[in-house]
Formats: sequence, C-alpha cells, structure tokens
Amino acid sequence: MDISDYKQRFDQRIKQKLSKSELEALKVEYLGRKGIIRQLFSTLAGLSSLDKKKVGQQINEFKFYIEQKLSELNSKLVEPTQEFFDPSLPKIKIKKGSLHPITYAVEEISSIFSKISFVRMSYNEVEWEFYSFSALNIPADHPARDDVETFFLDYPEDKKYGHLILSPHTSSGQVREMLRLKQPPVRMINIAKCYRPNWDTTHTPMFHQFEGLCIDKGINITHLKGTIDYFVKQYFGENRQIRLRPYDFRFTEPSFEIDISCAVCSGTGIYNEEKCRVCKSGWLELGGSGMVHPYVLRSGGIDPDIYSGWAFGFGIERVFLMKEGLQVDDLRVFYSGDLRFLSEF
Ligand code: PHE
Repeated sequence: MDISDYKQRFDQRIKQKLSKSELEALKVEYLGRKGIIRQLFSTLAGLSSLDKKKVGQQINEFKFYIEQKLSELNSKLVEPTQEFFDPSLPKIKIKKGSLHPITYAVEEISSIFSKISFVRMSYNEVEWEFYSFSALNIPADHPARDDVETFFLDYPEDKKYGHLILSPHTSSGQVREMLRLKQPPVRMINIAKCYRPNWDTTHTPMFHQFEGLCIDKGINITHLKGTIDYFVKQYFGENRQIRLRPYDFRFTEPSFEIDISCAVCSGTGIYNEEKCRVCKSGWLELGGSGMVHPYVLRSGGIDPDIYSGWAFGFGIERVFLMKEGLQVDDLRVFYSGDLRFLSEF
C-alpha cells in the first residue's frame, strides 16, 4: 500500500459521522506511537537517499493533512452537555434593591397633596437670583444672598435676572408657577432639590424641600392652617396637632413657623415624669409658612387687590425623620450610600 491508499482509507473513515471518542481513536491509529504515520516513516530506511527525501516529504504532507482534518472535525463536534438539575438544592438568593427613603417620602407627600388637587411641580435646580430672591422681596444686601449662604455659578450676570445660583429653597417656584399659569387659581406642590453650602451633622449641601402654594379669591390663614393640618394628619397620624408661631420671612406677611405636637410626649413636654428628650417642649418645628406678600403676587403678574394666597416650605429629610421617630445624630447618613441605614426602609 502506498500513501495514496492510506489517504483514501482515511478519507473514507472521516466521511462517516464520528463521535468524540471515535475521533480520538482515529487520531491514535494514524498519529500515535505505533500509528500508521510512524510505520510509514520506518519504511524509509530501505530507500535510496533520493527516494527518502521524496517519500519523506509525502509522508509529512499526509501527516499534516490528517492533523488538519482531525482538528477541523474536532471543532465541529458538539457534544450534548448534560446538565444535572438537583431540585433539593437551596435557591439562589437574589438581593432585592429598594428606593431611597427620600424617594418614598417624595411619593407619599405628592400623593397626599394630589388628593386635594395640588399639582406636582419641580422647578429649576439651577436658578436665577431673580426668582430665588429679588422677585420674592429679598433685597440685594440680605445675608441669604451672600456666597456663604448660597452657591453662585461662574456665569456672566444678567441685567434683569442677576447671577445664576443653585436654588437654595423651593420658594423660587412661586413666581415661576404664577407666570406659568398667568391667572389664579394656583394650587401647586413643588418638590425639588435645594442647595446651600453647609456640611455638618444637621445639614447636607443638597437637600429636599416641598413647597405648597395656593392663590385664589378670598384665600386666608384658615385655609393655610386647614391644609397643613390635613397634611400632618395624613402623613404623621390622626392624633398630631399643629400650632402657628409668628415669624418673619420677606416673601410672606404675616409669616409663621409651623410646629407639630411631639409623638413621644403627645405635646405635653413631659415623658415618664421627666422633660421629653425628643422635643423638650411638647412641639417640634416643621418649617416656614405665611400669606403670600403682595410684592410677590405682583412679581408673578397677579393683582393683590383681587387675589390672595398662602405658601409653606418644609424640608423633606426633616419630616421623614420626624415621621419615623428617628433621632439620627448625623443627617449626612442619607447621602453616604451606607446600606446598613438605607436598607432599613
Ligand atoms: N423658603 C423658606 C425656607 O427655605 C420656607 C418658606 C416657604 C417660608 C414658603 C414661607 C413660605 O426656609
């Protein structure tokens, strides 16, 4: 038999469908230590040197041909994989994520106000000084307009609108909402991020506020009290009370701080015959409010002789902690990304 016969036989063999083990056996038969290629090489010994070279080359080519074919067939071979399914193994635990606690609070607050027809808005985080201060009757020399109280952007000053800043409160949405609607009635709940350059245990440079604004004919303080009372009872619980304390904001007149009765001592200031440690006085401070100043109504194109309104602005981190009855000794934990805290909610 010469090489071409062997090649023919090899080609015959690989025409059939071969399994992995059959391919392995074929490889041993041809390329193994006692295989056909070895045998062919051993016949070279009896040849003249000229033939040795010629036949040797043919054997080498045949060997190369076999190697190529076998590796081709090998790569095409797809052995059915047998997966073993063991139903008695414990399941793979998938860690469930959750929303940030402040996101939950935002949703709950907007849903409480949507029930009494307040439209949810979010006004600009990058804002003109005009909407945050000037239009709200806050004069140019007011300390809140200093760069230790407010973040200023490195941007050319506008003649009418002043500098660009990071909105320090949601009250900038008041005049924007009046101008958007052009005409009362206004019923807005503006929920947005606010920024002030503070970083300590009770302040983060970014925080959230929600601001209610209601303008119509004949709106007075009883509507303000009634609405906040409604919110407090929905959000904190039926047995919570509110009280108004006179205060001073430039954009409301009269202005009030709103307090809410403490859940621990039920507004008495006494717990277990001692001064209540949570509130010390029976009341906790919720935030600012008041009747919208005529100047502000005019900034929004509304005639204060025909219309009146109220506004309030509360911090979300604050109301959230008050609701949960949590005394967090460092507010920055909200934005620390610490899952031990965040996954509690
Ligand atoms: N903007 C005020 C603050 O950030 C809160 C406020 C809102 C007061 C609306 C009165 C009316 O403290």
